[in-house]
Amino acid sequence: MKRTKVIDALKCTNFGEDICVKGWVRSKRGSKGIFFIALNDGSTIKNIQIVGDDANFPEETIKRITTGACLSVEGKLVESPAAGQTSEIQATSIEILGDCDNTYPLQKKGASWEYLRTVAHLRPRTNTFGAILRIRHNMAMAIHTYFHEHGYFYFHTPLITASDCEGAGNMFQVTTKNLYDLKKDEQGKIIYDDDFFGEQTSLTVSGQLEGELGATALGAIYTFGPTFRAENSNTPRHLAEFWMIEPEVAFLDQEELMDLEEDFIKYCVKWALDNCKDDLEFLNKMIDKTLIERLEGVLKEAFVRLPYTEGINILQEAIKNGKKFEFPCNWGDDLASEHERYLVEEHFKKPVIMTDYPRSFKSFYMKQNPGISGKPGDTGESGSIGYKGAVAPGPTMQGTDVLFPSIGEIIGGSVREESYDKLMAEVKRRDMDMTHLWWYLDTRKYGSCPHAGFGLGFERLILFVTGMQNIRDVIPFPRTPRNAEF
Ligand code: 4AD
Ligand code: MG
Repeated sequence: MKRTKVIDALKCTNFGEDICVKGWVRSKRGSKGIFFIALNDGSTIKNIQIVGDDANFPEETIKRITTGACLSVEGKLVESPAAGQTSEIQATSIEILGDCDNTYPLQKKGASWEYLRTVAHLRPRTNTFGAILRIRHNMAMAIHTYFHEHGYFYFHTPLITASDCEGAGNMFQVTTKNLYDLKKDEQGKIIYDDDFFGEQTSLTVSGQLEGELGATALGAIYTFGPTFRAENSNTPRHLAEFWMIEPEVAFLDQEELMDLEEDFIKYCVKWALDNCKDDLEFLNKMIDKTLIERLEGVLKEAFVRLPYTEGINILQEAIKNGKKFEFPCNWGDDLASEHERYLVEEHFKKPVIMTDYPRSFKSFYMKQNPGISGKPGDTGESGSIGYKGAVAPGPTMQGTDVLFPSIGEIIGGSVREESYDKLMAEVKRRDMDMTHLWWYLDTRKYGSCPHAGFGLGFERLILFVTGMQNIRDVIPFPRTPRNAEF
C-alpha cells in the first residue's frame, strides 16, 4: 500500500479507508488489552495515534515497539475520540522496519540543550529540533522567494578565496600542502607556489566583494551560502561556520538600504507566522511563552533609525543615570552587545537600525560621509568639530546595522564607497595590501556606480524566529571552537 505522510493522514477525513503510515515511535502506552502508539515521520510536529488490539498482534511484535523504533503501519483511518486530533489509525498490520536498541539516548523527556548537543546525530528526532529545522527550511524558502519576487538574481560566490574580505585575520586556511614538511624561504615564511592554488588560500568570511561584481553587472543579486570565521568567540551568538545572506544592489542609497533591510526581515518573520503555525505554537508553549507575540510585534512597528552618534549620547546619558556597562562606550568605540541590547531592549524596546559609524572599527569599503555632523566647519577630519564639540576622530561611514531584541546585531550592512580616489585613500590610510583585490578595485574604475548591500546571519534570524537562546541549537551540526563532531 502507498505510504501517506502523517501530515496528510492527520488532515484526511476519508474515515473507514485503509491507510499506510511510516515513522518513528515517540511513545507507546497500553491499557486494558489495547496499546496506543504516537508515531511521527518528521512531516509535522504532530504525531498520529495508532491504536492496536493486543489480541491481534504477536506479543513479541508489541514488545519490539519501543520509543525510537521505526514502523510501517497499515490500518483503518478513523475519527479520533481523543481531544486535539481529528483522525487516528486502527492498526491491522505493523511491520518493524528498525528496532531501537534500549541504549537509545532520547528516551527520557526534558534532556538539557547541552546534552542534546552531544547527540546531535539524533536530536533532529526530538519535537523541538524537528520544529526548529522545519522553520529553518521555511526561512530559506522565504529568503529565496523574497529576492526572486523582487527581481534579484541568486549569485554564487566562491567559498575558497585568496583575499581577506573584511580585513580581519580570522580565516581558516585551505591547503593541500604537507603540514609536516613545509617549504619555507630564508626568513622562515611558508612558500605557497607549490600549493594547490599556487598561493595562500582560505575559506571565505563573506561573499560581499564578489557580490559587488554581480551587482554592478546584474543590478541586484543576493548570495546565500556558508561562511567561515575562525574567531575564537565562544558565545551563544557565534559559529565558526554559519550561513549568510548577502544582497548587493546597484543604485541604492542609505535610506533605500534601510528600507530593504526592514522590509526583508519583516517578510521573513511574516512568512514564519503564515507557514510555520504548528511549529511556532509548539515552541511558544514549550520554549518561550512570548515568542509569537514578539514576532507579531516586529511586524507592527517601524524600526528605529539611529545614527551611531545619537546612540552614544543615549548610552552616555544612561551611564549618568546610574546604568553600569562592562565595556566603555565613548565616541569611536565599537559597541559591545550589552550596549546594543540596552538600546534595543531597554531604551527603544524595538529593533534599531544603527547608522553612520566612525571609521575606526568599520570596513574599508564603506561609503564615507563628508563630515561627522554636517555642520559648517566640520570637515570630518581630525581636529574639526564633531561629536558634542569634541575632537572628531574622522568622518563617519554609511554603515546600517540592524540590532534586534535578544540577538543584538542580526544584519551588518552599508552603502559602499564608489569613488576610486576615496576608496584608495582609505586603503592607504589603513595600509592595506590590495594585491589580491585588484579585481575589486576595477569596479570603481569601469563604470563605478552607487551601490549598497548587507549581510544577514541566517542562524541569528533563526534564533529570533524560534526563540532559542543558543546558536548551536538552530543549525543541525554546529561548528564552534574545539567542536567539529558529526
Ligand atoms: O557584520 P558582518 O561581519 O558583515 C559582513 O560580513 C558584510 N560583508 C556583510 C555585507 O555587507 N554584505 O556579518 C554579517 C552578519 C552579522 O550581522 C551577523 O548576523 C552574522 O553575519 N554573523 C555571524 N553569525 C554567526 N556566527 C558568527 N561568527 C557571525 N559573524 C557574523
Ligand atoms: Mg558586523
